[in-house]
Amino acid sequence: MKIALTGIKPSGPPHLGNYLGMIRPALGLAAQYRCLYFIADYHALTTLHDGAALRQHTRALAATWLALGLNADEALLYRQSDVPEIPELSWILSCFTSKGMLDRAHAYKDAVAQNREVSVGVYTYPVLMAADILAFGAQVVPVGRDQKQHVEICRDIAQRFNHVYGELLTVPEAVIQEEVETIPGLDGRKMSKSYDNTLPLFLDSGRLRKLVMRIATDSTPVEAPKDPEAAPVFLLYRHLVGREAAAGLAEKLRAGGTGWAAAKQALFEALETVLGEARTRYEQWMADGSALEAVLQRGAERARDLAAPRMDAIRRAVGAR
Ligand code: TRP
Repeated sequence: MKIALTGIKPSGPPHLGNYLGMIRPALGLAAQYRCLYFIADYHALTTLHDGAALRQHTRALAATWLALGLNADEALLYRQSDVPEIPELSWILSCFTSKGMLDRAHAYKDAVAQNREVSVGVYTYPVLMAADILAFGAQVVPVGRDQKQHVEICRDIAQRFNHVYGELLTVPEAVIQEEVETIPGLDGRKMSKSYDNTLPLFLDSGRLRKLVMRIATDSTPVEAPKDPEAAPVFLLYRHLVGREAAAGLAEKLRAGGTGWAAAKQALFEALETVLGEARTRYEQWMADGSALEAVLQRGAERARDLAAPRMDAIRRAVGAR
């Protein structure tokens, strides 16, 4: 079975965009691949400098994966920082990474363009990500469109390494979930922690309802026909329930006579239906810190076992052993 590997940064509370854009499609791959899911806490360290918060988001993300159906007996779930082979490999790979290529990485270029203070961590982020992937010989990397360049950088690094030492590293393929377009946030821009426009997963019903009612809509009156495709509330609903199930609401909005409040109510109810049970499981995992930690420790052990022979070969090849 081929290995599929994907990670999420615990840079904030897990939100609906993480679920629809990443977690749900990634969990769907478990039937087809041997799946490795991990929490990229050292990647989050590029932006989050608050230990308690990072630890909390990491735990919440682990609980989220489990609540949403990750089967930890089959798939691996681990925390990046529990696998020291990853930063070790990252150093080795950095010696095969062209500086020019990192200069052209979007995330780094954006940070520079916005005149933000750029740490070396932000700059070498793609190298650590390559190590995440190459340490395990993952063939398939399911990611959002915004991560495609990072996987290309990983491929380039692996090829350069292999060019010198032979075919030791598996050159991975990015799998971009084509049907998953950008998930809009409350204000209509991409749902992202950095825009502060997210719908956190697993809010209690009251707070969830309040947030849903705050989703941006235009001022088209109830009677008037509306364009569902232009409304974040409808797009979120469609992502959640699927195109077919959403056709009815689209029709009503187009016909006029259905207001945005009704669309919001439909979204709220769909969220309760799809995520209600997962919320209960999430709360159980969060309430039992040692059970959660035990899952992560077992995942890390298995991940290290999987990485060990490849790491051995890599160290030997470069002359470190
Ligand atoms: N950079 C990814 C993101 O921000 C997260 C990530 C880190 C990742 N390492 C990875 C994704 C390895 C896939 C494979 O979304």
